[in-house]
Amino acid sequence: MHRDYLIIEGGRSLKGEVLVSGSKNSSLALIFASLLSEGESLLEGVPELLDVRNAIEILKFLGAKVKKVGNSLKILPKEIGCMAPDCLVRKMRASVMLIPPLLKRKGRAVVSMPGGCAIGVRPIDQHLKYFKRAGVEVEMEGGYLLLRGKKLRGCEFTFDRITVTGTMNALMLSSCIEEETYLHNVALEPEVLDLVEVLKKMGARISLKGRSALVIGKRDLKPFKHRVIPDRIEAGTLLVAGAITKGEVVLRGAIPEHLKSVIEALRRANQEVLLEDGKIYIRGKSPIKPLSLETREFPGFPTDMQAQFMALLCVAEGRSLIRERIFENRFKHVGELLRMGARIYVKGDLAQIEGVKKLYGAEVFSTDLRASAGLVLAGLRAEGITLVKDIYHLDRGYERLEEKLKKLGAKIERETQV
Ligand code: EPZ
Repeated sequence: MHRDYLIIEGGRSLKGEVLVSGSKNSSLALIFASLLSEGESLLEGVPELLDVRNAIEILKFLGAKVKKVGNSLKILPKEIGCMAPDCLVRKMRASVMLIPPLLKRKGRAVVSMPGGCAIGVRPIDQHLKYFKRAGVEVEMEGGYLLLRGKKLRGCEFTFDRITVTGTMNALMLSSCIEEETYLHNVALEPEVLDLVEVLKKMGARISLKGRSALVIGKRDLKPFKHRVIPDRIEAGTLLVAGAITKGEVVLRGAIPEHLKSVIEALRRANQEVLLEDGKIYIRGKSPIKPLSLETREFPGFPTDMQAQFMALLCVAEGRSLIRERIFENRFKHVGELLRMGARIYVKGDLAQIEGVKKLYGAEVFSTDLRASAGLVLAGLRAEGITLVKDIYHLDRGYERLEEKLKKLGAKIERETQV
């Protein structure tokens, strides 16, 4: 798997209908949230992803019983330990969401400090600041976080900056505390709201007003049954695939209001996007108009769609600008796009893209999940053959993307480097 790569012969217009898979980031949060109760929870519509398999491995390591039937997971976390397995946690930063359930169930948690990754340092200072305010003792030893939460308390807490998993952690822990917790400056990504729905099913009372949340938790949270929301980033990636190949693609199962800023950007780029009977239609049109984009927290333009749009704007008619405001190092795909003939200039958090007539196939290397997706999109458009290497990055967040693209008419194969 680590040596898999994709071979793409570009220049074909994609046509057809594709079903969007369940959300990676919602699935991860809900898999960890299931540990908040001892009962058996049922999660449906879970995508087949490396990160999801990792999360299941972590739960099994802790002692939970996990049964996978198709895209459904039955999780019975009757008895669990308090120490997350280092090797798995190091692979996946989302494991930081283990902390609330371990504190709730065991009164303490031992989790390896998540390291940085390709897109940035990604500290968790806001997570720890909330935990301390809620009465958790936090120590760091030998790269491990040691947390103790004997007497947790409700509190009023304002995030210094909006954080998705930071908000998820605060919602999960406060849902176990029978006092009032007021959270301000929370993230409102659809995946956060999906978690709110589940925590309410489990017995917590949560009311949201703007970016403030009032949470009144319960000591014994019930297990839940829930279908995960569709993955808005996979959906956005497939829409860009339709646009960049001047094709006609129909998305089934996506939720349009999760994609407002992406659809609006595609329309500004002269792409035809229609919403009809619950489906999203895109017809790629020429020319692709240049754009000025900046990534923002939801409902702004998502950072997880930045690399995909950069690929599209490489062949726009004119100069585009993309400002990456969420992560400090999320332009690693630029070097690889330059190898395909793109003209991009990066200065700090701003990328200036001069549209070119053509991209040319090349051997390119993935550096992170969404960069990998951007390179695949560029390969679909490029003249000739593109090899996208290190696609384990891609497998972390996309359920057999090459199969979906092949069904839409792409010439794309997965090979394993021997
Ligand atoms: C979540 O990461 C997603 N991951 C990311 O998706 C996504 O890119 C990101 O939110 C932004 O939308 C999951 O949900 C598992 P943040 P998260 O905390 O929660 C800084 C993908 O492609 N920050 O919202 O880790 C941080 O460094 C992945 O699916 C602090 O400074 O992101 C970053 O610059 C990639 N201190 C910014 O805030 C903190 O305590 C946003 O980070 C926390 C975050």
